[in-house]
Amino acid sequence: MDSGDSTGRTDGVRAWLRGLEVFAGPLAYFDPTTAPADPVGLFLDWLREAVAAGVPDAHAMTLSTVAEDGGPDARVLFLKNVDGAGWQFAAHARSPKGRQLAVRPHAALTFYWPLLGRQVRVRGTVEPAPADQSSADLLARSVSARAEVELGRQSEHLKSAEERDLALREALARIESDPAPGSQQWTLYTLSPAHIEFWQADKSRLHKRLRYERTDPADPWQRHMLWP
Ligand SMILES: Cc1cc2nc3c(=O)[nH]c(=O)nc-3n(C[C@H](O)[C@H](O)[C@H](O)COP(=O)(O)O)c2cc1C
Repeated sequence: MDSGDSTGRTDGVRAWLRGLEVFAGPLAYFDPTTAPADPVGLFLDWLREAVAAGVPDAHAMTLSTVAEDGGPDARVLFLKNVDGAGWQFAAHARSPKGRQLAVRPHAALTFYWPLLGRQVRVRGTVEPAPADQSSADLLARSVSARAEVELGRQSEHLKSAEERDLALREALARIESDPAPGSQQWTLYTLSPAHIEFWQADKSRLHKRLRYERTDPADPWQRHMLWP
């Protein structure tokens, strides 16, 4: 039985959610038995197919981390690069996620491309990239995005919009007078995966799942199909 909200009406919400169409498609096709030995190439194929199918922000992903209290935390970030070394994203080292990664350098990434009915889950250890790579990423950002980094106060309580706007104007002026990267806190992180799962929705609910696993980056990938 529903516990009810302040109006006691949740049955309507439940029925409405149950009635929403899922995996509307047209779904993509995936045959795990013919998947390549290299998951990076397969991931890039899926990402390109998502972009080509018109999935907005197809390179956005949920980054899940472990918070200081041992509980999970998660937020959406943009993917910066993928290669044999891993999946890269960028963040302020003093933001909550940056501090969490400094203490517990483990994370999971989740991509979902609804138009194709595809999900990719990546899990592994996270390391900051060399400082010159982080500086190059910062310099490639727009001036306003750089100014936001300069503020260095992400996720702190904000007293007023005026206080933020003043700090932002000061940061913009600093960047315009000296465009060299000031913040050493903007950090490119590389997640080196131990698990990568490719998940393809199926209209008849026989979802296809393939997980690549390895315990050491020097080991070859093992491939396992998973029950739906
Ligand atoms: C589509 C999208 C992309 C985002 N990309 C980034 C990003 O690349 N880096 C980043 O630090 N925050 C990004 N954000 C903001 C984060 O979701 C988050 O609000 C912020 O980083 C603070 O997270 P934290 O308090 O857990 O550290 C993005 C948000 C959205 C919705």
